[in-house]
Amino acid sequence: MHSLQHSILGITNSNKCLLGGFVYDNTLFNRLGTSVRSQHTNEFRRGVHLSRIYGQGFSGGFMEREKIDLIAQSSLDINEVKDLDILLERVLTNARRFFNADAGSIYLKQEDKLMFSYTQNDTLQKRLGPDKKLVYNTFFIPINNQSIAGYVAKNREVVNIPDVYKLGGSEPYSFDPNFDTISNYRTLSMLTVPMTNQRGDVLGVMQIINAQDDQGNVIAFNRSDESLIKHFGASAALAVERAQMTRDIIMRMISMAELRDPKETGAHVNRVAAYSVEIYEAWARKKGIPAEEVKRQKDILRMAAMLHDVGKVAISDMILKKPGKLLSNEFEVIKSHSYLGARLFKNARSDFDEMAAEVALTHHDKWNGTGYPGHIDPISEEPLPGFEGPDGRPLPKKGEEIPLFGRIVAAADVYDALSSIRCYKEIWEEERVLEELRNCSGTHFDPEIIDAFFSCLDVIKSIATRYPDEPD
Ligand SMILES: [Fe+2]
Ligand SMILES: [Fe+2]
Repeated sequence: MHSLQHSILGITNSNKCLLGGFVYDNTLFNRLGTSVRSQHTNEFRRGVHLSRIYGQGFSGGFMEREKIDLIAQSSLDINEVKDLDILLERVLTNARRFFNADAGSIYLKQEDKLMFSYTQNDTLQKRLGPDKKLVYNTFFIPINNQSIAGYVAKNREVVNIPDVYKLGGSEPYSFDPNFDTISNYRTLSMLTVPMTNQRGDVLGVMQIINAQDDQGNVIAFNRSDESLIKHFGASAALAVERAQMTRDIIMRMISMAELRDPKETGAHVNRVAAYSVEIYEAWARKKGIPAEEVKRQKDILRMAAMLHDVGKVAISDMILKKPGKLLSNEFEVIKSHSYLGARLFKNARSDFDEMAAEVALTHHDKWNGTGYPGHIDPISEEPLPGFEGPDGRPLPKKGEEIPLFGRIVAAADVYDALSSIRCYKEIWEEERVLEELRNCSGTHFDPEIIDAFFSCLDVIKSIATRYPDEPD
């Protein structure tokens, strides 16, 4: 504990080692061991056992060590995440687990405001049932002393409130009971933590709500845990900074494609990517896919789906911006954006490269085999061996020959295209869009994917409000 409090983020020397954004004294780290979890768990069990023999006092040290271990593991866990949305989910899950807290939210700093960016609430989730997800809207609050989150961002200090309805009166901030009233929830204890990077900049704020004891009774947050969670806030800030940089790089790639095709806006790709993740989660839940796999896949899917049309950078403006119907040879050129996009990820180095190539290549293949580009080699543009059609062109892909993530992005992309204004048609009414998807289940789209889409439609609609089209 003492060693951790004296740690210096981001600096390593011979006596210190970096672990997930924390620096531990090697003595402590060695005591915990490199296989922190297994060794420590055994010691913890021993501690619990000895505490039964010697009384409460003995377990205290072990409990502190388990907390440090948990924070270190949490920091490692969030460092594995690449995508920003998935990262917020993981940060909040870890912070809540540390306190056995019922709920929480994350605000990210955007210019001079805080944006309510993500939330979890077990009590409200239980009311919804296991198949539904909490729907939330984003909003902004100013960074000033009037709100609790605003105060924490402004002053970069942890605020620990045992009961938000019983503030002392001397605080500059007040609690806004609006959310409780609307959702019929009772916020009691609240711990609000700044996410501050090494330069002292606040990237956002974590708000953890209603810590619980083992019986599920709401209790106050332990004052002695404040410094630990502040360190976790710093780890989260580093991870957020990195994920924001990755997101920015992807958005720049997309803005190059957008120069060619004004339909491929940042808002469109964010919506398609976020829908894709929801559809995948709903599909995976039905299929019983292990949670670990879902966790890993959705992180890369969120980014890969954004790049589905990146191949449009290689298509001429004359064709992409042409109003009205395309000639058949022009449409052939448009089709090439699928394999040209995949080609950008040749020499794949990572799972992300592989998935981005797969999505770009297959998001226009159709379930019944009437889509494009089919079984093509993206580099040579020749049919893959054994998949040459009678006309010498690649045979189409159909059914499960189309990779899962291509099938998912296909549905998400068409849903968003039909729901948004395009240069060649006006916006469709929602019911008509949904009818079209239903009608195309089993022809254009994988029926299981359409089922998954409809099972999470309320979340999908809330995503649309989070990424509105920019006015021209
Ligand atoms: Fe496309
Ligand atoms: Fe698209």
